[in-house]
Amino acid sequence: MEPIKIGIIGHGFMGHEHEKMLSDFPGIRLMGFSDRDPSQLADVRPGLKQYQSNEELINDPEVDVVLIAANNNQHRDLVVQAARAGKDIICEKPVAMRLQQLDEMEAVCRENNVRFTVHHQRRFDPDFRTAKAVYDSGTLGDVYTIKSSLYGFNGNMHDWHVFISEGGGMLYDWGVHLLDQILWMLPGVKLKTVYADIRNVINFEVDDYFKILMRFENGITAEVELGTYYLADKVQDKWFERHWFVGGNKGTAYVDGFEPVGKIVRTSHLLENVSGQRTMTAAGPTRSFGPAPDGTILTESLPAVDTCHENYFANYVRVWHGQEEFLVKIQETRRVLRLMDAVRESGRTGKSVDFE
Ligand SMILES: NC(=O)c1ccc[n+]([C@@H]2O[C@H](COP(=O)([O-])OP(=O)(O)OC[C@H]3O[C@@H](n4cnc5c(N)ncnc54)[C@H](O)[C@@H]3O)[C@@H](O)[C@H]2O)c1
Repeated sequence: MEPIKIGIIGHGFMGHEHEKMLSDFPGIRLMGFSDRDPSQLADVRPGLKQYQSNEELINDPEVDVVLIAANNNQHRDLVVQAARAGKDIICEKPVAMRLQQLDEMEAVCRENNVRFTVHHQRRFDPDFRTAKAVYDSGTLGDVYTIKSSLYGFNGNMHDWHVFISEGGGMLYDWGVHLLDQILWMLPGVKLKTVYADIRNVINFEVDDYFKILMRFENGITAEVELGTYYLADKVQDKWFERHWFVGGNKGTAYVDGFEPVGKIVRTSHLLENVSGQRTMTAAGPTRSFGPAPDGTILTESLPAVDTCHENYFANYVRVWHGQEEFLVKIQETRRVLRLMDAVRESGRTGKSVDFE
């Protein structure tokens, strides 16, 4: 079968990541790159084209699909340009900076009958898939809380990410992934209200910390927290901390790290009326919850998940050959953008916002 021929706009960080992944990917032939800064093309791999302009790439009759890996504020114009040339499009996240831009992008894609999806490959992250597998299994009983947190140490905002006009800030950067994961974990569940605390801890223009609380119709409150400026004296290889915590009335899951380690602690039945006991602390005596009766607390391993980011493009190839639907649908990315608007409104007003 003919491979899908992909041309990529933007040979920065993500362009290089795509180059690594797609240079030898089953069912795909990477054609080459364009970049508005020609020096960025200097290390394009031998055998790939270095297009002199975006127009040259978009109008190359050999290119089937344009993958847009340029700064966030460029997505709208580049999607419109590629759609008008009749090319299918994969756009990096966040799909757009505002809903109105997405309306325009979708309209042009519809008019030109081109397929349009977004690179939300973090739906395949092992930590997320592990938390999702535990949730889906029902082993925790009625789940009431899901926490997803990501901490970066000693400040990691840089380059265009510190400018609003370029689409900078952590909500656009990681926030869009973290919110997409939560919404995708709870398919078909209405999100009723949103409350957000958004901060500029050390960055003048853009957000670099947020805590978002989402109250869903099924009784779950999800919390997403991201910080870039948690100070640590020994970071070395540990530049990030990633955690999931999922709590239900029959169990609790602890999922820690991008390559997750952790456990499920659960009971065979609801623990009711466990009597309290006197406990001595440095601050004096207190009454703590008593130990559960013997044999009622079980510790289990986290489920093994088979997942990797390659699965995103494997899905793309199967869609191309009519075997399945896009994993990432534009209406899902629209819901995430709407949620980000609600998050910003709540952050601005300090009040919770009704959502769905
Ligand atoms: N899916 C992910 O996990 C993930 C991770 C990182 C970045 N991204 C996304 O990828 C995109 C690029 O981010 P990055 O970190 O690679 O940035 P980057 O600054 O490292 O690279 C962007 C490149 O695009 C080029 N560029 C900008 N505007 C252009 C235009 N109009 N035409 C041609 N080239 C243009 C720049 O010169 C630069 O080389 C962003 O949308 C970002 O959100 C996604």
